[in-house]
Amino acid sequence: MGRRVAVRVPATTANLGPGFDALGMALKLYNTVELEETGGSGFQIEITGEGEDLLPRGAGNLVARAIDKLFHKVNYSLQGWKVRLENKIPLQRGLGSSASAIVGGLLAANAVAGSPFSQRELLAQAIEIEGHPDNVAAALLGGIVAVAEQDGNYFYTNFTPPKELVIYAVIPNFTLSTKAARSVLPELVPMKDVVFNLGRVALLTSILKEGNWDLLTVALKDRIHQPYRSRLIPGMTEAFEAAEQAGAYGAVLSGAGPTLIAFGPPGLEIGEAMGRVLRTYGIEAEIRELEPSLQGAYIIK
Ligand code: HSE
Repeated sequence: MGRRVAVRVPATTANLGPGFDALGMALKLYNTVELEETGGSGFQIEITGEGEDLLPRGAGNLVARAIDKLFHKVNYSLQGWKVRLENKIPLQRGLGSSASAIVGGLLAANAVAGSPFSQRELLAQAIEIEGHPDNVAAALLGGIVAVAEQDGNYFYTNFTPPKELVIYAVIPNFTLSTKAARSVLPELVPMKDVVFNLGRVALLTSILKEGNWDLLTVALKDRIHQPYRSRLIPGMTEAFEAAEQAGAYGAVLSGAGPTLIAFGPPGLEIGEAMGRVLRTYGIEAEIRELEPSLQGAYIIK
């Protein structure tokens, strides 16, 4: 019997409003990546769940790329390998499906190869593949993550929210690539907008640690990416207002979108309120209630 390992990786929501490319949170919605040595040659990929009809099964598959990259770095090889993906995270919706693929592939390959890399090194490799740090950091580490880059190195802290916090997610039935959602952002943003966001990111990190949710309404507002992206998600701003009227502490774009998320206490019809707004713009959406995942990616066998 060849080597075999399976890992679970959480979905993530990045930015959390003002923390563009700096804040992320892991969510209790998981993909599973299983890597097995077949004893043959080459590799095969089996996919069930989200993306089973769409995702590439060749060398272009993101999980395969991550595995291959890690194996190359340590000059490790298997006698043929098979990857089984059980995907629960919707694709290209701003819920970190690509981060989960990268982190899942790297963690599984690292375990099979005898753990040559530390968590910090795996994070650096994941960021190199993903191109921005917030989703992969949250997927790998779990909880809420704050991350900053200096001279090519990444520095981070992660912590968990202290009290019950429900994340009402409204997942539109259209996809939006991160590349497209980044292409509408300006090269420069006005200083007053940077200052607007800075105060909020500072507030937000302490609110999320302390659980004083009443301050979230102000702290979640953003002026450096969401306004530019709003034209890609018709009804976004109105849906945020509807969420607040329905009792949410605040609502934001999840990562690069198009999913919208609202933070609120349990038991409210916040997702429905946002979904109704999107429907007036001709957009159908799936409504889900999620919670922060305190755990990042982990090995299940
Ligand atoms: N911070 C990234 C962005 C997250 O907003 O483009 C992408 O999911």
